[in-house]
Amino acid sequence: MKKILVATEKPFAPVAVEGIRKIITEAGYELILLEKYADPGDLLSAVRDVDALIIRSDKVTPAVIDAAKNLKIVVRAGAGYDNIDLAAATAAGVVAMNTPGQNSNAVAELAFGMMVYMARNGFNGTSGSELRGKKLGIHAFGNVGRLVAEIALGFGMKVYAYDPLIDNATIEKCGIKALDKVEELYSTCRYISLHIPANEQTKKSINYKLLTMMPKGATLVNTARKEVIHEDDLLKVFEDRPDFKYLSDIVPDCAEKIKTAFEGRFFFTPKKIGAQTSEANINAGLAAARQIVGFFEKGDTTFKVN
Ligand code: 3PG
Repeated sequence: MKKILVATEKPFAPVAVEGIRKIITEAGYELILLEKYADPGDLLSAVRDVDALIIRSDKVTPAVIDAAKNLKIVVRAGAGYDNIDLAAATAAGVVAMNTPGQNSNAVAELAFGMMVYMARNGFNGTSGSELRGKKLGIHAFGNVGRLVAEIALGFGMKVYAYDPLIDNATIEKCGIKALDKVEELYSTCRYISLHIPANEQTKKSINYKLLTMMPKGATLVNTARKEVIHEDDLLKVFEDRPDFKYLSDIVPDCAEKIKTAFEGRFFFTPKKIGAQTSEANINAGLAAARQIVGFFEKGDTTFKVN
């Protein structure tokens, strides 16, 4: 009997786990759960004899791949797969997949939750500002970027997008102004919402040059990855621009410095919660389970990323 391990340091909602269990057991496989583990060593032991692995932001390192001698497939229930060592997976003949789009709405809604919170001064009772009429720049127009754009139009924001991988006509069909240069996005928009993946090209790419181009009242919203921010530059921008604010679904490495010196100009979720809704957990978790069954039963490799 095939063994499918769900290893989630940050667990799915119980209703999603039950849905995953149903799909796995109906396929005739065994489900093994490893939740809230604190020690990466626990994952090393748990993967030892499994055929498939479902993860969230859990790290699939070369050591994990090496320990998982029977592993054929790992599915990241979510969008970003920067937590999987793809080279190690490929070398071991392990298929890696993600579940694109399944948790996007939850992330897009959080971006707005944070924007409203900051525009209203952390709900502290003082007079804040509104989002209507403000310019929002969407940096990368993938699944989350598109939903952020849709919600922004509902808020009455003026919406711009930059994505070098998507043609302008596709962006403009959604009622969004497409810009050809990233610099143009940052110099035009008071709000910037980041939706780029973390990879060798994007790491530390959000830098002093881009952030200082932003108009007065600049607010950067990061529901992507902390690695895409050049944190030394971020601190310098906080210093140089008293109007600059940073909202992040990922606690930055320089959080303590920001907390000490820039009170009222930031908000960080305590842990990554963008996709932490029961809807997103159900969508992504069940998609992951179905993709595993499809892979074993029909050889389906749609959403393979390696
Ligand atoms: C993703 O890449 O799908 C999101 O960042 C969600 O990550 P999570 O599953 O760890 O919440």
